[in-house]
Amino acid sequence: MKQSLIEQFSVLLGKQYVLIADEDKAPYLTDWRKRFTGKALAVLLPKTTEEVSAIVKLCGSSHIAIIPQGGNTGLCGGATPDNSGNQVILNLKRMNQIREIDAVNQTITLEAGCILQTIQENAAAKSYLFPLSLGAEGSCMIGGNLATNAGGTNVLRYGNTRDLCLGLEVVTAQGDIWNGLKGLRKDNTGYDLRDLFIGSEGTLGIITAAVMKLYPLPISQWTTLVATDSIVSAISLLNLFQKRAASLLTGFEMMTQESLALNEKHFPQMANPLKGNPPFTILIELSDHESEEHVRQLLEIILEEAFTANMISDAVIASNLSQANSFWHMREHITLAQAEEGANLKHDITIPLSSLDRFIKETDALMRQKYPGVRMINFGHLGDGNLHYNIAPPLGSDPKVFNQTHEKAIYELVFAQVEVCQGSISAEHGVGQLKVGDLRAHKGVIAHELMKTLKRALDPQNILNPNKVVSI
Ligand code: FAD
Ligand code: MLT
Ligand code: ZN
Repeated sequence: MKQSLIEQFSVLLGKQYVLIADEDKAPYLTDWRKRFTGKALAVLLPKTTEEVSAIVKLCGSSHIAIIPQGGNTGLCGGATPDNSGNQVILNLKRMNQIREIDAVNQTITLEAGCILQTIQENAAAKSYLFPLSLGAEGSCMIGGNLATNAGGTNVLRYGNTRDLCLGLEVVTAQGDIWNGLKGLRKDNTGYDLRDLFIGSEGTLGIITAAVMKLYPLPISQWTTLVATDSIVSAISLLNLFQKRAASLLTGFEMMTQESLALNEKHFPQMANPLKGNPPFTILIELSDHESEEHVRQLLEIILEEAFTANMISDAVIASNLSQANSFWHMREHITLAQAEEGANLKHDITIPLSSLDRFIKETDALMRQKYPGVRMINFGHLGDGNLHYNIAPPLGSDPKVFNQTHEKAIYELVFAQVEVCQGSISAEHGVGQLKVGDLRAHKGVIAHELMKTLKRALDPQNILNPNKVVSI
């Protein structure tokens, strides 16, 4: 039966787009963090929405589950198959056409396999900004961004991927093609199907195309790194910038001393330009549509006010684009430094800003008391209250053994604290296979049951990314 299915895929897509040899499948079977590895009957590389639809119908009639995959940069194992060898990976990288840029409507219609950076570059070439931006932008794809409702570094001003999307084309679990590719900013016609598929991590439908918003390209951007000695000061600084710069504030990222020390250990060229690597380094970006001088002056006035109020102790303003880029590279390299350092426990939580200081102080204290020597590699999108609260094993311990022994208890400790502070256990990375049990434990019974009801209704055969997000 499996052989005949592979033959049918080959007839449909062409033999070269049905990968069955182990060495061909291998790059698709392990997640970016190398935390999950699975097996697959085949990796399928369709070129059109009609091909995706036909694949789903074939899989449906053979009870073969489908794992949608984009750039495979997800951090929760959502795009990795299980170990049965009975699932197929449907990778959308060949569906990479920009279908239309509508200058009047300020929208771009594109296929799911378009790489995020390519979208940004195409938009910029026409003097538009496509504001979604994240460290994996050179390889993640818009279908994956939509499926995970990715956040990144511009959320403060432009919102999550969900906020940037106006319409979707989706292949349902039955293989039907839903064409919701309208570029409308208002549409109150019943339940919002678009928002249902966004963030569903491939469990409710396969996103094949989308209409996304474009914005005018800012004419100037100023980037600065500042030093603060506490989270309280960092949040006061954020509030000051929000008040004085309002919508010109496009980035507000936090990096701790420990996270930048780890960066420097693995990437010496990424050393913090602020003297003495202070307790907290904040990366701030202002963008303007008026003039370079206007935003530069505003930045200087706000920084002066912050110095006077003792919120900050040092600041470096990037003098040119290349220095600004180097500040951002330093921020984005922390994830890579963590990967170099070896196995670690990553968290991606949101806490109301008013409770963030309490969360960090109490959780750090509990963590140090229970696991002496652990290192907190914390950084994140402070402007969104989104903290990457990461735990690295004590120096000298075997990271794999440490994680195997303590992972469950550490996750529980962090998530219990998140609950006390009324936060979320996943701000932007999603649930995937990593946090299925945690979602069950922390989402609330009613919300979790409603999610399962939706999954059963839309995918009664459970063939789309089964056992990711929710198990039914
Ligand atoms: P994949 O990893 O291939 O898939 C992710 C999930 O989406 C899976 O469940 C998969 O089944 C599903 N999926 C993929 N494509 C489709 C589709 N077309 N239809 C339906 N389901 C689909 N994330 C953030 O939010 N913010 C960050 O700042 C950020 N920074 C990162 C930095 C680095 C260095 C790395 C490695 C990752 C980072 N991520 C970040 C995580 C990741 O890049 C995002 O989750 C991204 O949106 C995933 O896109 P992808 O194309 O790689 O999706
Ligand atoms: C980031 O903010 O850099 C990403 O979410 C990746 C990470 O958490 O490591
Ligand atoms: Zn992040």
